[in-house]
Amino acid sequence: VRILILAGSTEASALARHLDRLGGHDVTVSFAGRTRAPVPVPGTVRVGGFGGVDGLVDHLREQRVDALVDATHPFAARMPWNAQQAATAAAVPRLRLCRPPWAASAVHPWHDVPDLAGAAACIEELGAERVLLTTGRQALEPFARLDRVWFLVRAIEPPDPMPIADAAVLLARGPFVEAEERELMRAHQIDLLVAKNSGGDAAAAKLGAARALGIPVVMVSRPAQPSGPAAETVDDALEWIAQTECGQDSAG
Ligand SMILES: NC(=O)c1ccc[n+]([C@@H]2O[C@H](COP(=O)([O-])OP(=O)(O)OC[C@H]3O[C@@H](n4cnc5c(N)ncnc54)[C@H](OP(=O)(O)O)[C@@H]3O)[C@@H](O)[C@H]2O)c1
Repeated sequence: VRILILAGSTEASALARHLDRLGGHDVTVSFAGRTRAPVPVPGTVRVGGFGGVDGLVDHLREQRVDALVDATHPFAARMPWNAQQAATAAAVPRLRLCRPPWAASAVHPWHDVPDLAGAAACIEELGAERVLLTTGRQALEPFARLDRVWFLVRAIEPPDPMPIADAAVLLARGPFVEAEERELMRAHQIDLLVAKNSGGDAAAAKLGAARALGIPVVMVSRPAQPSGPAAETVDDALEWIAQTECGQDSAG
């Protein structure tokens, strides 16, 4: 059974490892190629875009893919839509694997904003001066105009170019620990945390730390997702794959 996993999330790598342990699957894991040192995964690895919907349709047909699992990051804006359209055109079953978002804590100042520009506007409204920015190195431009704010930018790889003039960069990859997150916020006298609502455990520690220190959170909401079969956990994705295989066996 040939499975194409569109990667870019913790769940994508975890699914590839589970399928490898189960055996009986020919798994290809596809990366966009943004990260220079992606987490190693079993199976065949391919890197780089497909060339839009048409390119992905060609790939699905040429590689005779039986099932497509779109496990791109919750903030991947384009790929989930390409995957939906290409899977429909090539008549390949598709699942969107996307972990649930974090829920706002009732006792914590939490400001939902629709996008990065909204986050920048919210920083101004709140009058923050020292911001921990965890939205990723490719999401910095909207904050460049805030010249009265100092940013601590945390990212996996260095921003290049760095559009924000008054900022320090901290290179780090999760999972993070709450006590260390508290210490980081204290040490840098952070008065506001800006995050994307990625969900999951690996990056949740900063929310607990902010709550404990009474630091408000500006949370960027996720982009819209295409309709169709969806799973929130790797176990649910494995279940969908098993059912898809059964369906194909009985159809064949
Ligand atoms: N956006 C984030 O906050 C974020 C955070 C962590 C990880 N990521 C991961 O980084 C990658 C790029 O993010 P993005 O926000 O630029 O996504 P995007 O807007 O959805 O994708 C842009 C283009 O990158 C290519 N692409 C994306 N994911 C791919 C994959 N798994 N395999 C092959 N090509 C892929 C596609 O090119 P073609 O049209 O040429 O096929 C797609 O049209 C995604 O895989 C995502 O999962 C994103």
